[in-house]
Amino acid sequence: MAAFRPAINKNRRAQRLTSIRVSAAATKEVLILGGTRFIGVYLARQLVEAGHEVTLLTRGKKEVTYQIPDDTDESYNAYKSAVKHIAADRKDKSMLDSKLAGKKFDVVYDMNGREAEEADLILGALGDVGQYIFCSSAGVYLKSSQMPHFEVDAGDPKSRHKGKLNTEALLEDKGVNWTSIRPVYIYGPLNYNPVEEWFFHRIKEGRPIPIPNSGQQVTQLGHVKDLATAFVKVLDNEKASRQVYNISGERFVTFDGIAKACAAAAGAPEPELVHYNPKDFDFGGKKAFPLRDQHFFTSIAKAQADLNWTPEYGLVEGLKDSFEKDFGRGTFRKAADFSTDDLILSQK
Ligand SMILES: NC(=O)c1ccc[n+]([C@@H]2O[C@H](COP(=O)([O-])OP(=O)(O)OC[C@H]3O[C@@H](n4cnc5c(N)ncnc54)[C@H](OP(=O)(O)O)[C@@H]3O)[C@@H](O)[C@H]2O)c1
Repeated sequence: MAAFRPAINKNRRAQRLTSIRVSAAATKEVLILGGTRFIGVYLARQLVEAGHEVTLLTRGKKEVTYQIPDDTDESYNAYKSAVKHIAADRKDKSMLDSKLAGKKFDVVYDMNGREAEEADLILGALGDVGQYIFCSSAGVYLKSSQMPHFEVDAGDPKSRHKGKLNTEALLEDKGVNWTSIRPVYIYGPLNYNPVEEWFFHRIKEGRPIPIPNSGQQVTQLGHVKDLATAFVKVLDNEKASRQVYNISGERFVTFDGIAKACAAAAGAPEPELVHYNPKDFDFGGKKAFPLRDQHFFTSIAKAQADLNWTPEYGLVEGLKDSFEKDFGRGTFRKAADFSTDDLILSQK
């Protein structure tokens, strides 16, 4: 299955920017729980750009604003002066109650909630919230032999993301006007998960890329800016009320296809791919590959139908964006570690 798509449709992007810029009357008071690491960094910028009043609530361990490669000096200064901050630990009830006392928000974007109790504390502290938009995960789905996953598919009550399912249930029980977004793998500049970065490290060194089993496992990656746009499109959208949406790229891709797409994005020759059986190795608890060793992909048709949204990035263009604004500049989150690769390659 190919992951390639022609160049980004710049007209579509221009249309998006004009279509989401709001009139003064439609300006919303928005609270983002998060907004300083990855998805929220792009979401907050898009919301400010669209004319909303944006407040970030974080503990303040991470800088509240910092310039990213997508910013110009001018756009960053505008963002920095527009965005407000509340310093609080969202898990600390008394701190939340005092920091949010008397504050009113039309919309809450909950970008970092993991357990239902965390959302409950926010609802308790804020009282009335017009709209609550939650960042869930496609990791909630029960493993299935029929894919793509649709939003109606069963969740896995034993998944490590079960707190996300419980959060959706809590929001429904409390009669909140909620929407839940379930991203698959997210990539793009600033990615805190070593997804494309894992491949880029190997490509940079001209190393073979070890891929478990056949390499034909099918999965799905979505660019962070397309995800942020989808979050914006939920705002004030009646169709999205009490709905769940899968959000990711438009096409599916094999593990081998990701390796090749990363090389193409980095301007490198096609890499040598080495397939191995993970059962033949003891990696001592180390992760030898950054993705789940299974087919894992979703349908994004519901979001495309309801949200007037469609991804702008094809995989190679999106990976190029990530390479040019992150890894290719020498920035990454995790240093290269080829120890599991060496073990695999020594037995080939
Ligand atoms: N990566 C993927 O492929 C993937 C896939 C599916 C779903 N997701 C979901 O994506 C979300 C992560 O997005 P993101 O990190 O990019 O979001 P984000 O909006 O950038 O928010 C992250 C920020 O939240 C703050 N934070 C963390 N714990 C906090 C607490 N207890 N109280 C207050 N603030 C807190 C941190 O700042 P401070 O340290 O300063 O507090 C952090 O910088 C998660 O919900 C995850 O489940 C990710």
